[in-house]
Amino acid sequence: MEIIITPDPASASKEAARFLAALLRKKPHAVLGLATGGTPLPLYRELIRMHRQEGLDFSRCTTFNLDEYVGLGAEHPASYRRFMQEHLFASLNIPPDHIRIPDGLAADIPAHCAAYEQAIVEAGGIDAQILGIGGDGHIGFNEPTSSLGSRTRLKTLTVRTREDNARFFASPGEVPHHVITMGIGTILDARSLVLLAFGAAKAEAVAAMVEGPITAMVPASALQMHPVVKVLLDEPAASKLKRRGYYRDVFAHKPEWQRW
Ligand code: F6R
Repeated sequence: MEIIITPDPASASKEAARFLAALLRKKPHAVLGLATGGTPLPLYRELIRMHRQEGLDFSRCTTFNLDEYVGLGAEHPASYRRFMQEHLFASLNIPPDHIRIPDGLAADIPAHCAAYEQAIVEAGGIDAQILGIGGDGHIGFNEPTSSLGSRTRLKTLTVRTREDNARFFASPGEVPHHVITMGIGTILDARSLVLLAFGAAKAEAVAAMVEGPITAMVPASALQMHPVVKVLLDEPAASKLKRRGYYRDVFAHKPEWQRW
């Protein structure tokens, strides 16, 4: 894992945007894996700025989102489809038929999940997957005890995640219990992973992910098995890492040819 500690979320998000822009310029038909929630918002703002001001072109890329709430349709204000439309897709030139998000209203969920996995394979696999992390160490909505080899499927949210996400709903009781999420195995199949985490509330999960044992109790710890992972943090999110000094040293002395 490459741990990059930045002064603030804006700097971390610019690093992540530079990485994605370099990928898109090299491979215009790249397949991007996208996340929702509060964390990627500054990244999405930066991508929109690069599209408008620097001509970063998304017309040939394809996107797959990590997850969606079961029972929420595209028009529901808290659906991830709606979130993505508002915060990213409405401002970029991704063809609508290149955008894939699990369907929260799918009648046959296992068949829908299998088709989602198949669509990722047919698109050529995900080149770069953006990730946030839950306070309990989840990635996507793979809650603690998720199989580290899991594929896209139905999951039940923990009480903590439902409480954390209640801010996006009119009332806490409206947060669905179920989601469709890419599995940890699906995420690990991506060619590169970019995980962003900001704020002290993420510090414990970040330390467990980076420096703890690989365990289904901390789903993000599975990222230790992936060869190309960038973890972009602000100072508070990095505050519980024991080897902070080493990570800073690695980044400060990174050879030019390894930078993007
Ligand atoms: C979102 C997702 C989740 C979030 C995580 C952090 O698509 O898969 O894993 O990344 O719950 O959420 P925020 O960014 O709101 O703290």
